[in-house]
Amino acid sequence: MSYAIRYNRNHTIMASRRDFLRGVTAAASLPASWHAFRSALQAAPAKGSEPFWDMVKAQFPLEPGLIYLNAANVCPASRPVMDRHLQYLRDFHANPSFQNRAKYDGMRETVRNKAAALLRVSADEIALTRNTSEGTNIVVQGLELKAGDEVIITDHNHPSNNDSWKVRAKREGFRVVSLPVPAPAPGADQLLGGFEKAITPRTKVIAVTHLTNTTGLLYPAKAITEMAHRRGIHVHLDGAQSFGLLDVDLRAIGCDSYTASAHKWPMGPLEAGILYVKQERIAAVWPSVVTAGWSDTLKGARKFEVLGQRDDPRVIALEPCLDFLAMIGLKEVEARARALAQRAMRGLKEIPGVTLRTNLEPELSGAVIKFHVASVPTRQAYDTLYAKNRLGIAATNAGPTEGLRFSPHIYNSMDEIDQAVAAVRALVRG
Ligand SMILES: Cc1ncc(COP(=O)(O)O)c(C=O)c1O
Repeated sequence: MSYAIRYNRNHTIMASRRDFLRGVTAAASLPASWHAFRSALQAAPAKGSEPFWDMVKAQFPLEPGLIYLNAANVCPASRPVMDRHLQYLRDFHANPSFQNRAKYDGMRETVRNKAAALLRVSADEIALTRNTSEGTNIVVQGLELKAGDEVIITDHNHPSNNDSWKVRAKREGFRVVSLPVPAPAPGADQLLGGFEKAITPRTKVIAVTHLTNTTGLLYPAKAITEMAHRRGIHVHLDGAQSFGLLDVDLRAIGCDSYTASAHKWPMGPLEAGILYVKQERIAAVWPSVVTAGWSDTLKGARKFEVLGQRDDPRVIALEPCLDFLAMIGLKEVEARARALAQRAMRGLKEIPGVTLRTNLEPELSGAVIKFHVASVPTRQAYDTLYAKNRLGIAATNAGPTEGLRFSPHIYNSMDEIDQAVAAVRALVRG
């Protein structure tokens, strides 16, 4: 049950839908929802049209009336993805013998290959982890650092890439320097300059978020990496908000490690994730968990995924997520999510008293939007928008990033975005 995702010289997905459909035809055991999705795709109007996206939206069994705009936290899985996950679960529990489960070894390699192809890296550089937090903590704990060394992070890093460094630093005596994050940001050059200024001869690591969950800032990851590498610094990129949303090319970015979860933009199961460690850096990162299955001869990043008895059906359920994305096309997914976000930002910024904390420029943003409503306390706004308008969103109730967060994805329609903006306008009017 594996479907090749092929890339042309520019690494864009080629004929993936045709190849995939050939695979589907061959795999009679696929759930009915995949056949339905295939039929819907075949009958669908041109990619990118509203009817095309209506067809995609119909694959998600979201509660009617709910306008779910919280992809940056947890995404719903589509019916086809859920059905394959359930199929794996049923298979596992119908026959948990070693003999039946032996096939999962091969299936894990298929998932690894597909994740690697998507990110333009080699399969040996990918570990199948439980989530972004775990992947990042493996890097935080695994790099050799000593008293006097310095690690640069930002104030907007998620705790898994912020407090994790501080806890280890407290124990071992190295220094963590946290950079402030302007919102909106003045520009990529200024962001790069901030890192450049903070670097000292003792800096060993820069750990940054690719696309932040706080204000939706897209960092110039390639420029930061190039600058850091000229000084021999390890660059760790938290990709929780970019994997499955942006067409991420890790080879082009050049970073040394990258982490992500399946339950965010890839719209897959919770507690399945990936850790990428560049081939040349794998030996420099110690594994954090060593248990049954460990061996010094494990190839590449596989040494980071010996985490005890794994939930194989969950781990391999990353594969249908990647297939689902490939069938639609990751470039199309990115363009659609960005278009939804841009429409929301343009509408929100016209509302009196609403301040955008997210940059409008596509090179500095993705599909995570943060905005502040001056006239209504944030907590109250968040509660009202859910109770009255059925908006499933996120909020930060205090501090410099205080505000409401919209993070739309391909299961949202333009009409839902307009309804969400209208709901904020009505809230402001009182
Ligand atoms: C930027 C960022 N990093 C890491 C995480 C943690 O992800 P997980 O809980 O899947 O480990 C999140 C979760 O929201 C996030 O937004």
